[in-house]
Amino acid sequence: MSTSQPAAVRTFKLRRGRISGRHEHALATLTDRYGVPGPESAADPVALFGRDAPLVLEIGSGMGEATAAMAAADPDRNYLATEVHVAGVASLLALAAEYGLANLRVARWDAAELVPHLPAGGLSAVHVFFPDPWPKARHHKRRLIQPGTVALLRSRLRPGGILHCATDWPPYAEVMLAVLGADPGLVNTAEGYSGRPGHRPLTKFEQRGIEAGRPIRDLVFARTFREVR
Ligand SMILES: C[S@@+](CC[C@H](N)C(=O)[O-])C[C@H]1O[C@@H](n2cnc3c(N)ncnc32)[C@H](O)[C@@H]1O
Repeated sequence: MSTSQPAAVRTFKLRRGRISGRHEHALATLTDRYGVPGPESAADPVALFGRDAPLVLEIGSGMGEATAAMAAADPDRNYLATEVHVAGVASLLALAAEYGLANLRVARWDAAELVPHLPAGGLSAVHVFFPDPWPKARHHKRRLIQPGTVALLRSRLRPGGILHCATDWPPYAEVMLAVLGADPGLVNTAEGYSGRPGHRPLTKFEQRGIEAGRPIRDLVFARTFREVR
């Protein structure tokens, strides 16, 4: 996804283990309805959703509880979630059917494969909630929020579109603030960290962070209206 990050560097560690019968059933029966055939399908969101509406991209939706809740509460926008963990994809497919969501599609691709296909300026918002913190210094290159990635995500936002990150890992929050703040095409909508927006539901990873006594940091940046190369 990034120009400063070699393609081989992954921001995730694939988890092994069997998936439950419920999740296997969801994958088998709901992929046609809510899935994304391939990363290149992101190039035509109107075809993917069957309607033209503002588009929100969520990177790393986990088990999808927050994503499904946000899509349900915001029916006028389309939600495209991408997650590499198969059980997470299956869980979100099941939630999409349970909530009867017409405005959600679930991709099982590395964001690095999907994002380049999205139309430039086509996104209303990007959500990166509780990305893997990769705490060890030798793993920092695996973090999702890197200058090149941010520049690519920004190029997919419409002017005024929002890049919203959240983390419970203070050292990563500081890096996010510095990286987002240094991007010439983004402007912070707050002074430093934002307050917790009411529309962001509590996620499982956030709950774990709270229980461990870690502070939750939201960062909400907007794409400027000025053209940046
Ligand atoms: C710590 S979890 C947070 C999940 C969820 N956002 C939440 O708050 O509960 C991070 C998730 O991002 C996914 N992920 C990491 N890198 C990714 C990438 N490049 N593309 C898609 N998903 C990714 C991981 O598989 C994992 O499920």
